[in-house]
Amino acid sequence: MSDKLWGGRFQGELAADAARLNASLPFDQRLAVYDILGSLAHAQMLAKQHILQDRDAQAILSGLQVLLEEARAGTLSLREEDEDIHMNVERLLTQRIGEVGGRLHTGRSRNDQVALDMHLYVRDQLLAVAGWVLDVAEGLAMKGDVYPDAIVPGYTHLQHAQPVLWRHHLLAYSWMLLRDAQRLLEAFARSNVSPLGAGALAGSTFPLDRRFVADALGMDGIYPNSLDAVSDRDFVVEAIFANTLCLVHLSRFCEEVVLWSSSEFGFLELDDAYATGSSMMPQKKNPDLAELIRGKVGRLCGDLVALLTTLKGLPLAYNKDLQEDKEPLFDAFDTLLAVLPVLVGMVGSLQLNVERAATAVANDFSNATDLADFLTQRGMPFRQAHAIVGQLVQRALHEGKRLRDLPLSAFQAASPLFDDTLYEWLDPVHVVAQRQTEGGTAPQQVERQRVQFQEQVALLRQQLTDARQRATVKIS
Ligand code: ARG
Repeated sequence: MSDKLWGGRFQGELAADAARLNASLPFDQRLAVYDILGSLAHAQMLAKQHILQDRDAQAILSGLQVLLEEARAGTLSLREEDEDIHMNVERLLTQRIGEVGGRLHTGRSRNDQVALDMHLYVRDQLLAVAGWVLDVAEGLAMKGDVYPDAIVPGYTHLQHAQPVLWRHHLLAYSWMLLRDAQRLLEAFARSNVSPLGAGALAGSTFPLDRRFVADALGMDGIYPNSLDAVSDRDFVVEAIFANTLCLVHLSRFCEEVVLWSSSEFGFLELDDAYATGSSMMPQKKNPDLAELIRGKVGRLCGDLVALLTTLKGLPLAYNKDLQEDKEPLFDAFDTLLAVLPVLVGMVGSLQLNVERAATAVANDFSNATDLADFLTQRGMPFRQAHAIVGQLVQRALHEGKRLRDLPLSAFQAASPLFDDTLYEWLDPVHVVAQRQTEGGTAPQQVERQRVQFQEQVALLRQQLTDARQRATVKIS
């Protein structure tokens, strides 16, 4: 007989290279704490249901408690020959408390066990990431407040389009991240459901109390279908997706940090803590961290596509392919949890060159729409106004001037509707102030959205606290 825990029907051993390929211990050992917590809940339930005798349950529970402490301290002595974390824990338990340890797996399969461990890991990590995402979102809004009147070029096609308040620009990112935090919390709700009791696939012959286990682990409910319970990895895909989209948003911000801190733009100055030098060129100050965060999206998209591809076409119920869910998931969370704290610091220490941004706006043609609106408000059809202003822009460009440098006579030659109040309309401060649409860039509107944003953040922080409370393990 093979010496594996499942060795009964085998005469020979697994080939050495096959065993290495088969083993998930190198990466699933980080689930150790969750695995033991799940086992504690399972053992308590077995005792409560009189499936285990009290004496046996006591031995198992105290053995598991010792292992839990060791797992928390990172001192479990794990062996790759035992394939995965689940069989390592069972072996360690049996080594400590003797054969009674073999009763723990009653009514359970590694299929529902690993699914449970993954749910517990995912739900905790989602909440951790959501907290950091809110920190970055708020950090951006606060950085906007530092320069309340600053105006920066607003771009479309990376061409100067219309000026906007710096606060407005940063709040655009804050709102993206707020949606990310919402998405993470929604993913949390779907992940906090227990698959335990599904057994290998069909349920168990023992009178298990699945809801007791879910409750003890702070989970909101149980899977209604045992086949679905062991084969579902939607919650893993959703977690990776929520992380990926969040990082996509962060990469867009980082791209602007890179661009705006270049000498061509010169709007932003990175703190030395978030820039690096060149080994050759003494003058360099490179935005490496922003670039790296931008670059890490590649990994996350890879993680997401890797898992989706693994899941595609898988028949019910558990298949070993599902072991491939772990590395992409861990990678996605590890990446976000490394990136987000750096961003909090980077954003907090960022400096805006207010003058430089103001000059860029003062010297461009991003007030041209307002000139067309000036004529439109005086009765001219917008399309005609657009054409007239286009010609004025062309003339100014030709003469190396800005619109405000053209004499009134030039404007009046283009349309008699012009008078000298047009010059006021060309001032970037006026341009910004005129955009009073709800959600527009006028200071009052930006102030209003700033307040809305803060309310939404407070709401989400409260939801996060509630979720953390719910997701507390209650093992006596
Ligand atoms: N290491 C496995 C995984 O990560 C655990 C489940 C194994 N189940 C099985 N029937 N081989 O998916």
